[in-house]
Amino acid sequence: MGSVKVDQLTKEFAGVKALNNVNLDIQEGEFFALLGPSGCGKTTTMRCIAGFEQPTTGTILIGDKAVNKIPPNRRNCGMVFQSYALFPHMNVFENVAYSLNIKQLNSSNVISQAGIYLRLLNRKFGKYPKDIEKKVMEILEYVELDRYATRLTSELSGGQQQRVALARALVMEPAVLLMDEPLSNLDQKLRHSMRNTIRRIQQDLGITTIFVTHDQEEAMSMADRVAVMDHGEVMQIGTPTDLYSRPATPFIANFVGTSNMLKGTVVDEVDGLSIIKGDGFQLRSSQTSTKKEVDVIIRPENIKVYKADRVPSDASNLLEGDIVVSTYLGSIVRYDVQIGNYQLVVDTTYSSGESILAAGEKIKMSIEPERVLLI
Ligand SMILES: Nc1ncnc2c1ncn2[C@@H]1O[C@H](COP(=O)(O)OP(=O)(O)OP(=O)(O)O)[C@@H](O)[C@H]1O
Ligand SMILES: [Mg+2]
Repeated sequence: MGSVKVDQLTKEFAGVKALNNVNLDIQEGEFFALLGPSGCGKTTTMRCIAGFEQPTTGTILIGDKAVNKIPPNRRNCGMVFQSYALFPHMNVFENVAYSLNIKQLNSSNVISQAGIYLRLLNRKFGKYPKDIEKKVMEILEYVELDRYATRLTSELSGGQQQRVALARALVMEPAVLLMDEPLSNLDQKLRHSMRNTIRRIQQDLGITTIFVTHDQEEAMSMADRVAVMDHGEVMQIGTPTDLYSRPATPFIANFVGTSNMLKGTVVDEVDGLSIIKGDGFQLRSSQTSTKKEVDVIIRPENIKVYKADRVPSDASNLLEGDIVVSTYLGSIVRYDVQIGNYQLVVDTTYSSGESILAAGEKIKMSIEPERVLLI
């Protein structure tokens, strides 16, 4: 069973709380991301699950078994580190075979010292038992590195090294795969293609995966569910769309995607819509709030832009503003628009041939009440 439960986990380092009451319930086969800014406790959470750190309080369960007292090598977790931690003096095959080899030697029936020594010597000269050889070559083929089996890992590109690290974790057939910022050393393009590779392998094998990242795009594009962490605590857990469309706090709204955040006061409720007033704006929202003073969150792509004389008659939540900056980004045009004391970010889809509004132009904007989020 590859489910993982983290129950009321707290970790203190020399009196400083790195984790405060972290609770996670990760399903078997799930791709689960831990997302948060530097220092929020992602690695510490993962190291507690792997067994490299001992919780100050709390319980870790893998399957239905509490593993607090079980050493890392018996937790059935495969780990991929940010730095890959490969052996530079070994070739690709040897790196991947290493743990399998140790495991087989440990469980070996050979009782004499001489027998074990002979086996070690054989392997030093590249003679591995057929079953190890078969398994390693299969996994290398799987990550498309079979051609590089005899190459030293120090002679590989970053992306290739990353795949060796992945193969080395997978060859042990772990119940849980733990990955700590595995893509952060790769350039942008490679990172994108490795995201797809990792996701494909994870789905193929149905392996429970916990993936640590501080890159929201990475978490949102890969994971089934994401836990957003801050200052040692889990702030919200949800699917990527949950987090994006219903962020629980302004911090999450800001961390997960770009958002416009306005301070407002709920002044009335009319026809099931909340009326919010703020500095230089009035908006209607389909959400209700238990608080009077609210943070109003509007995603840039949910704001429609019109030239001042071309506003459709049914446009809701009309706002007027001045374009401050206009940026062409290929498939979208991003406008920074001044309304009162606020500068809003507005993204409009762009088709070739369309004209782009310029800085200094006066525009009107509209927002559907369903897209005006209140926190
Ligand atoms: N061995 C340690 N001794 C003392 N403090 C530690 C230790 N390991 C982590 N910490 C502290 O615990 C907090 C959480 O650290 P952690 O490494 O889990 O953060 P992180 O979310 O992985 O950050 P990053 O994105 O920078 O890797 C930090 O304040 C860090 O300084
Ligand atoms: Mg870390």
